[in-house]
Amino acid sequence: MSARPETSAAAIRLADYTPPAWRVSDVVLEFDLGIDSSEVTAHLTLRSEVDAPLRLDGEGLELLSIAVDGTPLDPGRWRHTDHVLEVSGMRDGSVLTTRVRVQPAANTALEGLYLSGSREAGFLLTQCEAEGFRHITFFPDRPDVLARYTVTLRADKARFPVLLAGGNPDGAGELPDGRHWARFVDPHPKPCYLFALVAGRLEKIERDYVTAEGRAVKLVIWSEANAIDSCHYAMDALEHSMRWDEQAYGRSYDLDVFHVVATHDFNMGAMENKGLNIFNAKYLLADPDTTTDDEYKGVEAVVAHEYFHNWSGNRVTCRDWFQLSLKEGLTVFREQQFSADMNSPSLKRIEDVALLRRAQFPEDAGPLAHPVRPAEYREINNFYTATVYEKGAELVRMLAGRLGTEGFRRGMDRYFADNDGRAATLEDFLGALGAANGIDLMPYLAWYGQSGTPRLRARGRYDEGAQRYTLTLSQHTPPSASQPDKHAVPIPVKLALFDRDGNMLPLHLDGEACGTETVVVLDASERSFTFERIPHAPVPSLLRGFSAPVLLECGYAPAELALLLTHDPDGFNRWEAGQQLAARAFDDCRTGGAEALDAWSSALRQLFVEPGLDAALLADLLTPPGEIELAERQEAVDPAQIHELRQVMQRRLGRVIGAEALERRYRELYAPGPPALDAAGKARRRLQRRVLELLALVAVDTAHALADAQYRSASGMTDRLAALGVLVRGGAAEATDALADFRRRHADNPLAMDKWFAVQAQIPGEPALGRVQALEQDPAFTLKNPNRARALLGTFASGNPSGFHRADGAGYRLLAERLATLDSLNPQIAARLATAFNGWQRLEPVRREMARQALSDLAGRPGLSRNLSEIVASVLS
Ligand code: PHE
Ligand code: ZN
Repeated sequence: MSARPETSAAAIRLADYTPPAWRVSDVVLEFDLGIDSSEVTAHLTLRSEVDAPLRLDGEGLELLSIAVDGTPLDPGRWRHTDHVLEVSGMRDGSVLTTRVRVQPAANTALEGLYLSGSREAGFLLTQCEAEGFRHITFFPDRPDVLARYTVTLRADKARFPVLLAGGNPDGAGELPDGRHWARFVDPHPKPCYLFALVAGRLEKIERDYVTAEGRAVKLVIWSEANAIDSCHYAMDALEHSMRWDEQAYGRSYDLDVFHVVATHDFNMGAMENKGLNIFNAKYLLADPDTTTDDEYKGVEAVVAHEYFHNWSGNRVTCRDWFQLSLKEGLTVFREQQFSADMNSPSLKRIEDVALLRRAQFPEDAGPLAHPVRPAEYREINNFYTATVYEKGAELVRMLAGRLGTEGFRRGMDRYFADNDGRAATLEDFLGALGAANGIDLMPYLAWYGQSGTPRLRARGRYDEGAQRYTLTLSQHTPPSASQPDKHAVPIPVKLALFDRDGNMLPLHLDGEACGTETVVVLDASERSFTFERIPHAPVPSLLRGFSAPVLLECGYAPAELALLLTHDPDGFNRWEAGQQLAARAFDDCRTGGAEALDAWSSALRQLFVEPGLDAALLADLLTPPGEIELAERQEAVDPAQIHELRQVMQRRLGRVIGAEALERRYRELYAPGPPALDAAGKARRRLQRRVLELLALVAVDTAHALADAQYRSASGMTDRLAALGVLVRGGAAEATDALADFRRRHADNPLAMDKWFAVQAQIPGEPALGRVQALEQDPAFTLKNPNRARALLGTFASGNPSGFHRADGAGYRLLAERLATLDSLNPQIAARLATAFNGWQRLEPVRREMARQALSDLAGRPGLSRNLSEIVASVLS
């Protein structure tokens, strides 16, 4: 189905929440599946204590019949408008039966029941979160209606040999005319957004698992035949996740089967449907020839994330969509802990903080800013944001830090016990965590209700006579249009003090010794903390581990940051000091200064040869903040200039380290043969790529020759794509052949081809646009596949600032035009890509006007979806 114009949708407000007048205790669903047309019969057992008409959601449904308690319903008793089925005179305990028809193959929005792949070979599947179930049958489509599901699927056996739904299998058999059936019963009441089915020709791999409680579980991963060999890594990740949740949180799986299915046609990353997770293939399939190291990590993380939802999301779900972060922020946090345990905690923290700064801080600083718990929305799909997910996870991390490991576990046990089988709120969460620990955590609600990134200012004063160091912390959150007055929030600041030799000093705060690292909480606009027995002026290390999602403003001297960068025993804090110093070095490049630039590059030269430093950490230390982050620190943003200056500063770093040292290191790191997938192998490849990138800035011919050789000899995707990236972004002559080779080699693998499109969309500067336009004509390009659209247009618009933000505005016009086309196919994807315009108000005047023009032209087009029009209107405001 295509998008319907819905521009005038009213806002839905948290303050207006009321419990449902009608609940559903049991749902019996029968599907007669077909590609063009599927019929859905629903028997709903309805419950109510009040005398109100029954109102069910339903969109794009062709109503075939309607009955109550087995008797066709009198036409005077029901009304069917566009989005609502209203039935009067229903009684508590009555069973409403509807039969509807839907059209899976015509569904390009990928919400509800749709076809993945071709008509001949593809399969049927559903996506219901947030409000897709109403595209399948009439139902109170809201997360606080929890019901038990019995689902029967019927279909042609040759075309749909595999029939799956959530819950436990409850029989299967043959039907006349080559058809067959399968039934599933889910004993755990659930909201309809967790419903799922899959039907088609799929292959599987299986593993037996026994839970800590002794339940035997069959784990099954399904994909199309040609990808089934790429599912083993995900199976390992699933088993690790299940074990980890038992050990870390005491949470076991609760059905006899756990199905996971991969599809190439998916709007998001993956979906935690009860007992039947559905994954974007990008986050499930993995093999060394087509999957990079970072993508391996992504698979492990998303498999874990979806599995963890079984408790944080499914057993305890959300009362309404305003509480989305209750499940998402918590589950992202749980996945972060898991990934840290499986890999390196400091590298994981670096990755997560970098993502927060790149994606969430800009969102929170512009017109799309919203609280982790928004107060209102028009289209809920637009609120699956970095703020709800990543900032939400940071808030859970602060709470966990406040309670300590044991206290947090105690609180989580209480949360699960008190809310199991319920649709909960963030108050329930904070209440349980606090009650289990005798602490009032409600002050943290302020974080959930307020948008914007708080600025934390720190000033230190050393009193030599008294041997006393006083740290004054203050906070300020800039006002936003909907929240002109921001409040102080509790900010936990983990800190240490270093002496001039880079040693951590023992801390004495309020007469108490507290080791060499402690947490102070800034719970007002301003507070001072005094440390005694400090022998000389210290260098403070603040916000260690990124203990709160704030912007730190601290008047460090470059040499102080360099000291922390070279001496802090903790990898993350080193990186953090390095990022701050790099940002100052960038300012030097802009203003012709030298102090920070020198301090940064010489500290890194020192680390470059430091024995024993982890190669992956070194790679991250050698990477300055990205162009998007650097733009955040500026007014009148000129993305072309930012790109240039960032290159200048990296070239300077390359020179200070020296071309010879870089080349020598590159050759030392070179390892022929199949890629080792262990941590050491990944670390080696990460550093090798970074060294090659730096070398390309100081010895371009050498670097391109090395990259070309690496491309040809690479046996894994990480090295192959790294080499290709250096050639393509560097405009090397060798790039053409390498691209042609890549295309030949990977033409049959959609995920590899996405990388082929994406790497070219990253060409910096003016040439990017022409390349993108040419690639749009490539037979392998289609707007209908979300991964492909994101790979080309998403990378160009959101991942290539100097390419997208052309001064002539052609990048903006291209995006706006494609969004209009995409919107008629898939409004969710159009809306998501449109967020690339966020931040346009802070561009320099010429680009700003170009962007405004493109946006207002887009806003003026008739018939935009609710999804896209909400984003465009907000961004313009
Ligand atoms: N709930 C999914 C997740 O975070 C994301 C999702 C949202 C997927 C909406 C599909 C649709 O894990
Ligand atoms: Zn999630």
